[in-house]
Amino acid sequence: MNSELQDAVAIDGPAGSGKSSVAKRIADAKGFLYVDTGAMYRAVALKAMRLGVDMEDPAAMLRVAETSEIGFDQTGTRILLDGEDVSSDIRSPEVAKQVKCAARVPEIRALMVTLQQAMVNTRPVVMEGRDITTVVLPRARWKFFLTASPEARATRRHTEMLAAGRDVSLQDILDDINHRDASDYQVGPMKDARDRALAGDGIVYLDTSDLSPDEVVAAILDSMN
Ligand code: DC
Repeated sequence: MNSELQDAVAIDGPAGSGKSSVAKRIADAKGFLYVDTGAMYRAVALKAMRLGVDMEDPAAMLRVAETSEIGFDQTGTRILLDGEDVSSDIRSPEVAKQVKCAARVPEIRALMVTLQQAMVNTRPVVMEGRDITTVVLPRARWKFFLTASPEARATRRHTEMLAAGRDVSLQDILDDINHRDASDYQVGPMKDARDRALAGDGIVYLDTSDLSPDEVVAAILDSMN
């Protein structure tokens, strides 16, 4: 087995940790391809919803995943489902609610992991998700677990939504984040990434509660030099 390190940045972390915007900025700064793996699970869920598949049936969900073509455009910023750009559609609240029906099926995960691992063969990547540091790219040269307190994440999202003219209560956002954390830490692979990071097992644990996005990006770029 080849045990060499890969030129890749692996970033895991919970919803609202700011990992997507940070990952994009790291990719830009280094000239690496940005890969959002959550978008792939969202694409499977979107297709199942469009087809009217029983989302609670893992075998039916797997058939959807197996018969779909999921990938990214050249820039890595647009997700393609059977050739169609579904980058906006996968961000709907309905997809956000149902995506766990795809992400919790082990065979679907195996399929996505294979696709994700193949992306590293062509060029250096910054890949973000929940299992990148542990399952997808355990040999990545740079590995990070990015998090922030639920309150800090809720406050950030609240500020963003107010700026976008959407009047949502801070408490509702906090409830949503706590709900998503419970799902991520219980049914998903993220707990393993966090535990390994906390144990100092080759993954840098970065609590961004008191850091600005600029400071987080600087800290990551610094540690890559
Ligand atoms: O990061 P996101 O909110 O777009 O992720 C969507 C869902 O997919 C969320 O339920 C977590 C899950 N996910 C996962 O299980 N493994 C990944 N590598 C990425 C996302």
